Amino acid sequence: MISRRAILTTAGASAVVLGAGAGGAAIYAHGPGLAKARAPWSEAGKSFGDPRIDALAYAILAPNPHNRQPWMFELIGDDQIDVHIDLDKRLPHTDPFDRQITIGFGCMLELLRMAAAEKGFRAEIIPFPDGEPQPRLSSSRIAQVTFLPDDRLARDPLFESVLTRRSTKEPYDRARPVDDTALGQVLSVGIGSATLDGTTDPDRVKDLINLAWLGWMIEYETDITRKESIDLMRIGNRQVVKNPDGIDMGGVQMGLFKMTGIVSHEGLNEKGSQAYNIGIDMYREIIDSAMGFAWIKADENTRLSQIDAGRNWVRVNLAAQQIGLCIHPLSQILQEFPEMREPYQAIHTKLGAEIGVVHMLGRLGYTKYPAASPRWPVESKLINS
Ligand SMILES: Cc1cc2nc3c(=O)[nH]c(=O)nc-3n(C[C@H](O)[C@H](O)[C@H](O)COP(=O)(O)O)c2cc1C
Repeated sequence: MISRRAILTTAGASAVVLGAGAGGAAIYAHGPGLAKARAPWSEAGKSFGDPRIDALAYAILAPNPHNRQPWMFELIGDDQIDVHIDLDKRLPHTDPFDRQITIGFGCMLELLRMAAAEKGFRAEIIPFPDGEPQPRLSSSRIAQVTFLPDDRLARDPLFESVLTRRSTKEPYDRARPVDDTALGQVLSVGIGSATLDGTTDPDRVKDLINLAWLGWMIEYETDITRKESIDLMRIGNRQVVKNPDGIDMGGVQMGLFKMTGIVSHEGLNEKGSQAYNIGIDMYREIIDSAMGFAWIKADENTRLSQIDAGRNWVRVNLAAQQIGLCIHPLSQILQEFPEMREPYQAIHTKLGAEIGVVHMLGRLGYTKYPAASPRWPVESKLINS
């Protein structure tokens, strides 16, 4: 018989992911049933018979909002990749101008560049070769990438951590502070014109925790943004394997709770329910355990600056991984839906970005790294191949 506590814990964990912004938290241990959903992590490194696909097998492991993996790739001739978007994989309520989705493309393109270099190719990346789509993305190309052989190319030391990189969404160890040396190392890997910054100062951290929490609550309490996340939940191993994107809530126990009706999409969306309230408590603990913050700013909110922010975010994530530090984006307060307007402005003032834009904000700390998140296989992302 399932104990009340187990039910509450599971239901609470489910609720936690509701407000996880463009992310979600994989709270449950992934059983062997999820091996298929994680297979792309072990397939990267094998030869697919085309260096472009070999590099793409790494690129698709990039962090991206709600793990939607909105990319599609068209191989042109024998040296070009056209990067397209699956427009149905956007997040219209939490990301009304596709800013975060574009940042995810930037993360992917940076991994593609690194992986191509490993194979001796310079990936010449032209973002938005057909012009910047505004105010939302369109079906025009996200990037055109050409693979040019180059034996003198330097390999990127961050590449070593691509397969172990995680967005770590669990509470961090409050007894283990992040020191400025670690923060400095993480912030030293920036490229392009973005500004990387951060803090470990306890007063500033507390201040940012409060703002991040405010943003989280607004996203959680706004019906349409909460529902966007709930609709993307994959509850139980079977759903995760069938749909290895969105918010994964795998695990044998979760599957059982789904089967018996204890956990359902409808139930999780019910304001004031036990699961809903436990979710608030649990996420409070997660956000409160921030031991530092890192953020990425740009002077202008252009598509190019969004791509640039993504390239920098994945570099920061990889650099953190190399020193055993955990990082977790908290994007709610950076979101542009109307209910978020005030805290959005407050964080921009706080981080000195009144004129520009804060593209990414993440908490820092230490805990055990989670299992790899699900991915669609690279082959399923190729158009006409
Ligand atoms: C632009 C962007 C915004 C994100 N925002 C959040 C967020 O608000 N909350 C969260 O838990 N994860 C967030 N993430 C992390 C994604 O959820 C994560 O990358 C995805 O689930 C895949 O997991 P992985 O990074 O461990 O491979 C964000 C990632 C990106 C690139």
